[in-house]
Amino acid sequence: MSKTFYITTPIYYPSGNLHIGNTYTTVLCDTLKRYKHERGYDAFYLTGMDEHGKKIETVANDRGVPPIEHVDELADATKELWSKMKIDYDDFIRTTEKRHKSVVQKIFERLLEAGDIYLGTYKGYYCMPCESFYTDSQLAENHTCPDCGRETSELEEESYFLRLSKYQKKLLQYIETHPDFITPETRKNEVVAFIKQGLNDLSVSRTTFDWGIKVVSNPKHVVYVWIDALSNYISALGYGTDNDKLFQKYWHGDEVLHVVGKDILRFHAIYWPIMLMALDIPITFKLHAHGFYMMKDGKMSKSKGGVIYPETILKYYGLDELRYFLLRELPYGLDGLFTPEAFVERINFDLANDFGNLLNRTISMINKYFKGDISAPSEPLDDIDNDLRDTAADVIRAYKENMNTLKVSNALQELWRLVSRTNKYIDETMPWALAKDEEKRPTLEKVLYHLAESLRHIGIMLKPILLKAAPALFDQLGIGEDHTTWQSMTFGEKKHYHVIDKPTPLFPRLDVEVEVKKLRDEIAGKTKPEPAPKADLISIDDFAKLDLVVAEIKTAEPHPDADKLIVLTVDVGGETKQIVAGIAKDYEPDALVGKRVLVVNNLKPTKLRGIKSEGMLLAGSNKDKLEVIESRELNPGDRVK
Ligand code: MSP
Repeated sequence: MSKTFYITTPIYYPSGNLHIGNTYTTVLCDTLKRYKHERGYDAFYLTGMDEHGKKIETVANDRGVPPIEHVDELADATKELWSKMKIDYDDFIRTTEKRHKSVVQKIFERLLEAGDIYLGTYKGYYCMPCESFYTDSQLAENHTCPDCGRETSELEEESYFLRLSKYQKKLLQYIETHPDFITPETRKNEVVAFIKQGLNDLSVSRTTFDWGIKVVSNPKHVVYVWIDALSNYISALGYGTDNDKLFQKYWHGDEVLHVVGKDILRFHAIYWPIMLMALDIPITFKLHAHGFYMMKDGKMSKSKGGVIYPETILKYYGLDELRYFLLRELPYGLDGLFTPEAFVERINFDLANDFGNLLNRTISMINKYFKGDISAPSEPLDDIDNDLRDTAADVIRAYKENMNTLKVSNALQELWRLVSRTNKYIDETMPWALAKDEEKRPTLEKVLYHLAESLRHIGIMLKPILLKAAPALFDQLGIGEDHTTWQSMTFGEKKHYHVIDKPTPLFPRLDVEVEVKKLRDEIAGKTKPEPAPKADLISIDDFAKLDLVVAEIKTAEPHPDADKLIVLTVDVGGETKQIVAGIAKDYEPDALVGKRVLVVNNLKPTKLRGIKSEGMLLAGSNKDKLEVIESRELNPGDRVK
């Protein structure tokens, strides 16, 4: 039986424009999953979206759409991005899904029953953009938020608390007795220092907004984001349900790894293990917190240092270029920098020159001197050949060691040691000189064979990283599947090579000046349109594009998968349409039947939680309530202008 490997990314906030910093975690996990798969593991990769909270509710309200529509849209956009980036995830969990909500509700009640969650009052200062409460002593000057510097407001509210204090000692003990629980070491030290200061109980519910999972035993509370979000790692595996096969297999399996950015270290290193201890679930996971991608002028943000999006890199360059740069340029345990210069240099030097050129030259020479066919040498090996083989063996060892300890940048650095050694091998053996002497033909063949074998090794180690170039290398060298496996990675394993006639360069060289300028412009400009703000002015022609009609509601049913949605069929004047509307909070389905409402009749159909919606029903809202706009005298199909 294969060993199991369960790897997770954080679940992303639905912001709609993930930059290369956020996508780094996803690419890193994708690479690790693929690597483990190559090594024979049964690997399961979970990612998803963290869709609740005040901030999301506010953004949706500002856009004038129900939160569920907002998050549906952004979940689709995120999935589309992952599909463009060929992210090989096995499940995509969304915290608004029923399967997740019911598990969170169970977890909350269990903790409540056990006395690990209790009801109290929270007095503090709330920062809306950060969704965080702070105590007086935590605030920055003039009662501003210590994280973002914006104004906070004083609030007192009833809240449930998780007893972190009770588990403080046990957690410290756990960390001390499991030295590789948190990596890198510096992050572990930060966590230990933080715990030693003393843990305050954590507020885990809110009464001030609605957009969250209701506490079953006290529905005026919604579960506050971290209990909701962290539970995704087990809710996705079916924990606490009748079908917990995946939970048994992967959570209780051989290796479990949460990969997060350094900003959310504390939540994963303290709250999550304490939740698990309180729930009596074994802590099987290891935690890795990586650094941040920064821009030259600071944090990656529109207002500070500019932003670069993965789509931009994909548009002008390619997926392999993006993956290689991201994985190579962020040093283990530290922050990394995205600069246009560094990006173009990495492509030109590492990918085009060192690697791509090596492949090209090798194939060209095999064609030129041996009409595309070479075989394993029969003559004895020279010191140079042995040195190349030794380097390969040493690089495999170092690559493995680095990948196993999540030092992917170092693994690539090591791999490029083999690329360089192989290039040097060409300089040392000078095949063009050997070709001039008929007697040296066997030596020439041996040299070219070593080049091909070395490239095969490089290709195998590149498989989890360069998704297009590694298979292209195998194709161009004529290497079949049997010889692209990790097990086949020894010199001499493939006996014969038949390469393609004309190699195509894998990474064309870039014009530095042109590309750097292009990227600078992208970073400086707004490369992504913002969602249109509600108050934008439109022309009468814009308005005329709307086909607004009166419709009579014929049937109304709750959506099977979303508490806030109702599925309606409406008569729009001789034609029946299906509309999914986010109005369940304020309307019982039965009360809607027979109403004559206004609908946008020419909206592009979409799916809301898996059910087709062919239009939109108009409703207005104040802070507390939503009201569907009705007509008394008009008939289905009548146009509204
Ligand atoms: N929703 C929470 C996570 C809950 S997990 C139970 C969250 N989401 S996020 O969308 O804000 O961030 C997702 C990930 O992106 C985090 O790991 C964060 O550290 C990472 N990054 C955000 N900016 C980054 C860079 N500039 N560079 C590298 N990673 C970055 O936090």
